[in-house]
Amino acid sequence: MSKIAVVGTGYVGLTTGAYLAHLGHEVVCADVIPAKVERLNLGQIPIVEAGLQEMVQEGLGEGRLSFVLGAAHAVVGAEFVFLCLPTPQGEDGSADLSYVQEAATEIAPYLESGAIVINKSTVPVGSVEMVADIIGRADIAVVSNPEFLREGTAVHDCLHPDRIVIGAADRVAAQRVAGLYATLKAPILITDAASAETIKYASNAFLATKVSFVNAVANLCEAVGADVGQVVEGMALDPRIGGLFLNPGPGWGGSCFPKDTRALVRIAEDAGYDFMLLRGVVAANTAQQDAVTHKIERMAGGSLSGVNVGVWGLAFKAGTDDLRDSPAIAIIDRLRARGASVRAFDPAVAGPLDGIDVVSDPYAACDGADVLVVLTEWPLFAELDLVKVREVMASPRIVDARNLFNPAYASMLGFAYEGIGRRGWIDPSELDMLELSDTHYGRE
Ligand code: UGA
Repeated sequence: MSKIAVVGTGYVGLTTGAYLAHLGHEVVCADVIPAKVERLNLGQIPIVEAGLQEMVQEGLGEGRLSFVLGAAHAVVGAEFVFLCLPTPQGEDGSADLSYVQEAATEIAPYLESGAIVINKSTVPVGSVEMVADIIGRADIAVVSNPEFLREGTAVHDCLHPDRIVIGAADRVAAQRVAGLYATLKAPILITDAASAETIKYASNAFLATKVSFVNAVANLCEAVGADVGQVVEGMALDPRIGGLFLNPGPGWGGSCFPKDTRALVRIAEDAGYDFMLLRGVVAANTAQQDAVTHKIERMAGGSLSGVNVGVWGLAFKAGTDDLRDSPAIAIIDRLRARGASVRAFDPAVAGPLDGIDVVSDPYAACDGADVLVVLTEWPLFAELDLVKVREVMASPRIVDARNLFNPAYASMLGFAYEGIGRRGWIDPSELDMLELSDTHYGRE
């Protein structure tokens, strides 16, 4: 088992540290915020992430995991040093590498001879060399080992990865890093550094493209009178297409897709390639948020001025409390700019939020609302009592931007209902037919 340092305790760093300790390694994680380090050492984690708190507590309890202030303290004695630092979007869309650069500068004099520095942050092609140049030591290898975990299922994804990608010019260093994952049953792909860095961006860009594609198909379905649930079901039977990541919605968001797609457009541009397709995907995502806003406006009768909108869901997706680049927030901003007042409920988000009345009860969010809008795909929402919702609303209207409800059921209860790419108002006499043909999108 190895001695490992993890620099940065954000989503990726904290999960990486916790699961490497779970695999039996001795892990020291570093952060720069004293209060965060103190809380982590008490086993309290600052994010909503299934199973992570338990795993951190397990590591602390068994003495294999600890948290320290400052990267220099963590790397002393470490054979492997993971850099898990934020790479936020810079002003021109490119990834801001300053956190990675600062950390590399800080740790350089303290690294043990023979240590391997592993870049897990999502960084542009060439960053392995950049970090190696900053460290400037021939006895230290630097490799790329991108992370593919999803928020909300981070622990599961780390323990059951689809693949481990390791990119390095130094094959021996790459093999040593591969050894860290020996107990996981996952294919390990060793590439050159530039390819590993590109795999990460290309994967996120492809997934974002998939979601934007299905959103476009959903919009088309509305225009031609088709149903996206049935269309996706038919497409997904082709194994080359598959059914995953084809749920239409209010557009993709989060801390990764928006920044990574823009960064890749920029990386391509800097390299002299116009990634036209991806530029289109980014633009289509903004257009999707506009389209959902217009749908809500139409549902409200043509104007949002003075309209009370109840919102279910603020997080960028279910299973997390993360509001970074959340489509829900982007749409709420648009609604408010057009004169609507918004009262919102999200099971993982407590207020106050700038200008949004956040309540702790889903029915309170609908109380007196002219329209109810579902913006995050929390399964819990589909279990709520629509009869009670109808009773408290000023008028029974739902825009279900995650296609959580059965449209026929909502219509039967008297709601004006619109999903994304579904047929809008459904005559209750069509109920039987719909139930027969309803797909996994529909729920009672
Ligand atoms: C994403 C990738 O899925 C991970 O593989 C990657 O490691 C991570 O970014 C990262 O780079 O760190 P994450 O940001 O947690 O993970 O979110 P996703 O689950 O990919 O969802 C992104 C957005 O797409 C969400 O807003 C989600 O609601 C939306 N989405 C996803 C849809 O609208 N429809 C779908 O079918 C799937």
